[in-house]
Amino acid sequence: MRDQDLPRLSRVAVRARRELGARAVSRGWRVLVVGCGWISRHVHLPYLAGLRATGGLRSLYVADADPDRATRAARDFSAEVHTGPLERARADLVLVATPPADHATLTLRALATGARVIVEKPLALTTGDAAAVLAAARRHGGWVYPLYTMRHRPEAALIRRSVLAQRIGPVREMRASWLRRDGVPATQGGTEAGVLWDLGSHLVDLALWLPDWYGNTGKARAEHQHPAAATGEVPHAGWQHRERANQAIAAPKWHGVRAEATLDPERRLHLEASWAAPGIRRDQSRIDIVGEQATLTWHTVFGWSPDRRTVPAPTLWITDADGREQVLLHHQPRDPYAEYTAQLDTAFTALTAPTSDDAVGPLEAAYASTALLHAMQTSLDTAAPVPFDIRN
Ligand SMILES: NC(=O)c1ccc[n+]([C@@H]2O[C@H](COP(=O)([O-])OP(=O)(O)OC[C@H]3O[C@@H](n4cnc5c(N)ncnc54)[C@H](O)[C@@H]3O)[C@@H](O)[C@H]2O)c1
Repeated sequence: MRDQDLPRLSRVAVRARRELGARAVSRGWRVLVVGCGWISRHVHLPYLAGLRATGGLRSLYVADADPDRATRAARDFSAEVHTGPLERARADLVLVATPPADHATLTLRALATGARVIVEKPLALTTGDAAAVLAAARRHGGWVYPLYTMRHRPEAALIRRSVLAQRIGPVREMRASWLRRDGVPATQGGTEAGVLWDLGSHLVDLALWLPDWYGNTGKARAEHQHPAAATGEVPHAGWQHRERANQAIAAPKWHGVRAEATLDPERRLHLEASWAAPGIRRDQSRIDIVGEQATLTWHTVFGWSPDRRTVPAPTLWITDADGREQVLLHHQPRDPYAEYTAQLDTAFTALTAPTSDDAVGPLEAAYASTALLHAMQTSLDTAAPVPFDIRN
């Protein structure tokens, strides 16, 4: 595969999966979207409205704590507003896209009605809540698909295959960072959860999934970085600026976090994330996977940042013990819609015809990443190392 073909190929694959997989099974479904904010309006509602228009769903409902937002979303995506508790919606599928604090509760309530659930990341903000979702899904025989978008990038699949095929030898160390020059979430809910849960949840998902580092116990330590300016002025995600114009966002106290985890046996994870890293001129995301024989490096820009259009080449390479580099990819997909659509296609396929090559399913993986993030968050709060157990 030539790397310039990546965006085109991923779009073709996305379309094929949508046509073949999800649509047949979901044709009769009533779908309820809870939370009609930025991600729903840009990703979930266009996708679901498209699916409904081609006969892939029966009906589409929207709900929001803010009735005006629900009404606007219903108007813009030809959906119906659902008012009252979600239990009364009799939905076959509930898509939870509220701020993180309500993800676990809404998922549990939806599961209890017998609905399948797609839930935005992070699955939960505590190990206990993630465990409750996992237990409820198992008890109800229910399906929950958490959306950790970056693993749906085509490069991620290539990296995982390479690592699991031992191209770099056993992995002992992962370094994962996502630094934005200027990108606090445009909404209060995302800001309140903090950068660890906003950007860090993607990084921890990748750090566990790419080398298959599940089934571990260990210790985590984390510290705040990049205090917000004393003026209280909030740097904003430029690409979300229009949406934030009507809202007053309280400034976060900290923009950045640095964390480390030691996972038994002898595996180390270093993580760094910032919404407003000082001294950088462009957003950058980087994953280094250090194997015993070589290091695999993925240098990219995640998410909706305009900087993803100008990522310098190469974007994916392996450096062996003698310092020789082998370039795997020169470019990255420029269009974020590809991975955001791919995650929904994969979710629909998983929810309708659950087959997976992964030993650890998406919900179990989300439990593990939540448990590790919760330990990091506790360490942030207590300034002490915190033990964790990501087995489930
Ligand atoms: N995968 C990604 O890359 C990605 C990108 C952006 C956002 N997200 C996730 O999506 C979620 C939503 O983010 P957003 O940017 O759309 O936020 P947002 O604030 O723009 O939208 C959230 C909406 O939920 C509504 N809401 C809040 N609590 C509610 C409740 N209990 N019941 C019903 N509605 C409720 C709010 O009124 C608001 O309209 C977050 O968890 C965020 O982490 C993921």
